[in-house]
Amino acid sequence: MKKSFSIVFVVLTFLTTFQVQAEEGNMSGKKALVAYFSASGVTAGVADRLAKAIGADLFEIKPVQVYTDADLDWRDKQSRSSVEMNDRASRPAIASKVGNMAQYDVVFVGFPIWWYREPSIIDTFMESYDFTGKTIVPFATSGSSGIGDSGKNMQALAPNAKVLEGKRFAKGVPADELKAWASERL
Ligand SMILES: Cc1cc2nc3c(=O)[nH]c(=O)nc-3n(C[C@H](O)[C@H](O)[C@H](O)COP(=O)(O)O)c2cc1C
Repeated sequence: MKKSFSIVFVVLTFLTTFQVQAEEGNMSGKKALVAYFSASGVTAGVADRLAKAIGADLFEIKPVQVYTDADLDWRDKQSRSSVEMNDRASRPAIASKVGNMAQYDVVFVGFPIWWYREPSIIDTFMESYDFTGKTIVPFATSGSSGIGDSGKNMQALAPNAKVLEGKRFAKGVPADELKAWASERL
C-alpha cells in the first residue's frame, strides 16, 4: 500500500512538473526573456513571434529619443544613426528597464543590423544589467547582411555573460523555424 502510494506520488510530481514546463513554453525549464530594439517594426515582428513561440516574456528596448526617418538616413554622414555608429563610445539612452532581470536564465536580444553590427543602443542595453551566469542569444534582421561581429561586440560589453554568436533572420521567418532555433539554445 505504502509502495503504491509512493509510486503514484512520484508519477503525479513528474506530470505536474512536465505540465508547468509545457505551459511556460519550453521544456528546459529555463526562464527566457526576448528583449528587442526596432526602429521600423521589422525586428519587433520577429521578436513577438519568437517570444510567443517559446513562451518567453517580451521587452522593447525603447530609446528616450525616438529615431526619426532623418535620424535613420544611412546615406547622410551627419544623420543621428551615422554619427552614433561612427562613435564606438556612443550609448543612446533607453527609456525603461527590465523589471527583474535576475529571474531570467536566457536573454534573446534582437535588433536591426546597422552598419554590419548591433546598433549603439544595444551596447547601452548590454552595459545596463548584471548578466552574470546568463546566456545572451543575439538575433537580428537586416536588408541582407549577416549578424557579423555583433555577438563578439556584445560579449566584450558583458564579460560575465555567455554571449552566443546569434543569427540574422529574414523579415517573414516562420514561428516554427524560430522555435526550433531557440529551443537548441534554451
Ligand atoms: C542606419 C541603418 C543602417 C543599416 N545598415 C545595414 C547593413 O549594414 N546591412 C543590411 O543588410 N541592412 C542594413 N540596414 C537595414 C536594416 O537592418 C533593416 O531594414 C532592418 O530589418 C530594420 O529593422 P527594424 O524595422 O526592426 O528597425 C540599415 C538600416 C539603417 C536604418
